[in-house]
Amino acid sequence: MTGMHGNPAFTRRRVLVGGAATVAVLSVGGFATGGRPPKPLPEPPAPAAPTTHRHSLTAAERPVHLLGPDRPASPLWTYGDAPLTAIRARRGDVLEARLENRLAEHTSVHWHGIRLPNAMDGVPYMTQPPVLPGEAFDYRFTLPDTGTFFFHPHCNTVEQVGRGLAGVLVVDGDAPQPYAADLLCLLKDWRLDQATGRFLDFQTDAGAAKAGTFGTLRSTNFAAAPVVRVPAGRDVRVRVLNLDVTRISQVGVMDAEAAVIAIDGNAVSPFPLVAWRMGPAMRLDLVVRAPAPGASARVVDYFAKEPVTLMTLVGDGAAPGTATDFDPAPLFAPALPEPDLRNAETLPFVFSSTAVDQTIETPAGGTIDLGRSLCLNTATYWAINRQTWPERGHEFPPPPLAELKLGRSYVFELANVSPHMHPIHLHGHSFKVLDSNKVERPVHWADTVLLTPKERARIAFVADNPGRWMFHCHIIEHQDTGMMGYVTVA
Ligand code: C2O
Ligand code: CU
Repeated sequence: MTGMHGNPAFTRRRVLVGGAATVAVLSVGGFATGGRPPKPLPEPPAPAAPTTHRHSLTAAERPVHLLGPDRPASPLWTYGDAPLTAIRARRGDVLEARLENRLAEHTSVHWHGIRLPNAMDGVPYMTQPPVLPGEAFDYRFTLPDTGTFFFHPHCNTVEQVGRGLAGVLVVDGDAPQPYAADLLCLLKDWRLDQATGRFLDFQTDAGAAKAGTFGTLRSTNFAAAPVVRVPAGRDVRVRVLNLDVTRISQVGVMDAEAAVIAIDGNAVSPFPLVAWRMGPAMRLDLVVRAPAPGASARVVDYFAKEPVTLMTLVGDGAAPGTATDFDPAPLFAPALPEPDLRNAETLPFVFSSTAVDQTIETPAGGTIDLGRSLCLNTATYWAINRQTWPERGHEFPPPPLAELKLGRSYVFELANVSPHMHPIHLHGHSFKVLDSNKVERPVHWADTVLLTPKERARIAFVADNPGRWMFHCHIIEHQDTGMMGYVTVA
């Protein structure tokens, strides 16, 4: 442990983070301000003249030695020769990305968390035609927000993302001053047969109907928990992304002071990190005070019997001459439209297991069997407002869960009536997480909120982006077995 000097708001956490047992008694949000008033976020500067970034994403199978250099390679699906594709740009820049499909099935790219035009949202049939094998699709849009984002396919997602098809998108311009280092910490599990390196079934009935089917091998940045050298005693930024399809991690930092500075890419007034639960798709930006020369600190997952090391930071070089208190400056405020809560319309959404008829009537008078879906699934276990995502739902979508009026403010009351956790994601908008009956969290902007069992949480946003926007659980087996729908904004 580092010394006990420093800002009282941040040192109080030192006592709490003694071990997993201590953390377990804290609220699951792991939110504690240390009794200090939140620091106001500075207004962001106007974006500089935009640059256009061109990238090619070639979805193809490529062998990667995930099990170790002497073990058989695994047939990953990736966007490039390096398994981890990372795109970097600045707020206001234009991203042009050409997807080429060299897989044997159709795919697309969804830019998770980016407030872009509906036609660029990458949902096959809903927002664009599926990109068939051998075909290409050109994405082009402006990046309106800074932060840590990612992208992934949106059909047969449990297999496509399960095989590695995903990338990171970092939009710079949120930091008033640079950090001593800026690290990615991308969490993802793999379901691999140890002997052959081949993939195991991506979905199981037992998993899909409960907490999901877990991988057999954990990884950070597509490798075993890496050891990273960082400038000793200085403040480094660590961007944690949960890109697994199933696992919920409870992220903390051991043996160093750490603060949360952004959630899902959106700045928050910095607060000490105790342990933050991250479902699939969720991101957390941290500032960590790097350890003394030669000493180490660990980013860990507390959601296990013993904390699991995700990444080790080792102090490198000479520490700064004078030690300063750990007191990270806030990032620039998110440039998001503030919902008008007094005039907002409130809509309830209930997340449950399936307890509905297995067929629904189509507007044309036919019936749709709910037991199958286009994306290769044969089972339906989950529902939103008692509605599931039907067979061939992308081609013949069910009615929307809600029809929102362009420019209006909405409060969504989310109720999880199941005994499982669900990270709930809305496309095309960032929402404000207002409150919850169970979890203490700061009011913050997000694109995904983790509903714990029996939790009711309220989110609010301005429906300012026209189109059909998917609204679903990001535990992919839940999404693919019914816990998906969409809202329209017009
Ligand atoms: Cu990251 Cu509809 O998903
Ligand atoms: Cu779920």
